[in-house]
Amino acid sequence: MKLSTQKTPPRGRLTIVGSGIKSVAQCTIEARREIENADIVYTLVPDPVAMHWLRQLNADVQAMDDLYQRCEHRWDTYQAIIETLLNAVRKQQRVVAAFYGHPGVFVYPSHEAIKQARAEGYPASMQAGISAEDCLFADLGVDPAEMGCQSYEATQFLVWPRQFDPGAALVLWQIGVLGDLTLTRATPLPGALTLLTKKLLPYYTPDHPIAVYESATLDVATSHIEWMPLRRLPYAKPAHVATLFVPPFGELVADQNVVAALNLPANNLYFANSK
Ligand SMILES: C[S@@+](CC[C@H](N)C(=O)[O-])C[C@H]1O[C@@H](n2cnc3c(N)ncnc32)[C@H](O)[C@@H]1O
Repeated sequence: MKLSTQKTPPRGRLTIVGSGIKSVAQCTIEARREIENADIVYTLVPDPVAMHWLRQLNADVQAMDDLYQRCEHRWDTYQAIIETLLNAVRKQQRVVAAFYGHPGVFVYPSHEAIKQARAEGYPASMQAGISAEDCLFADLGVDPAEMGCQSYEATQFLVWPRQFDPGAALVLWQIGVLGDLTLTRATPLPGALTLLTKKLLPYYTPDHPIAVYESATLDVATSHIEWMPLRRLPYAKPAHVATLFVPPFGELVADQNVVAALNLPANNLYFANSK
């Protein structure tokens, strides 16, 4: 009898999916299919309604939230999440990890777990989900095609000297924990919103409207949108999960050399999908 020298491929695999921002309603059909067919589903979904639904789809759903309490430092929590997922994959299980929103947007351990699984020879992939920014575009009626859109982590934006463009929209994530590198607070550090206002004021007028945005997380709820002039930002009370939106400011002037070189109509520039 001839023995095959071909190795059987590992059965273990990792699929990362998103549950969306709005509980249950924004979980994609492909994510649902993965969840139903998984041997085990690990979750970071801070929502009891979604958790109840996930448990109806799969008998083995394990929440990873307690890792945040068990580890003192955020970095250790991330490593614990990655190890939890990888250990199950190494046991040759079909592992699905479900994170809220889009699983690859502001989620370090999802990307890292995929890299490590692949490095160990296991198939690993991520599916797109619906992020808070997607909800913001819909709720605020913002199309990034119009003037462009830049997106930053709020504390990073404040601390680092970024070259940003006030002529494009600005989305600042994690405004509700501005200045807190440990991400253990539920409010911005005292004085942090004032520092952010000072950073923005040279680029906008004090009356420029800005929005503190909190998307609905339940189908029956409505999103909370608080518009205010930029000068009021130091007094804002953003929710823990809020995102800050700053609309574009100022007139853009076309580069006439490019306009001429492309033979574009100088006084009637119309870009596809924008005004
Ligand atoms: C760790 S990130 C997770 C993002 C998530 N993966 C996503 O796809 O939206 C947390 C940040 O996302 C934004 N966010 C999460 N939930 C939100 C909500 N319900 N409304 C507005 N922004 C939200 C906030 O900026 C918050 O600080």
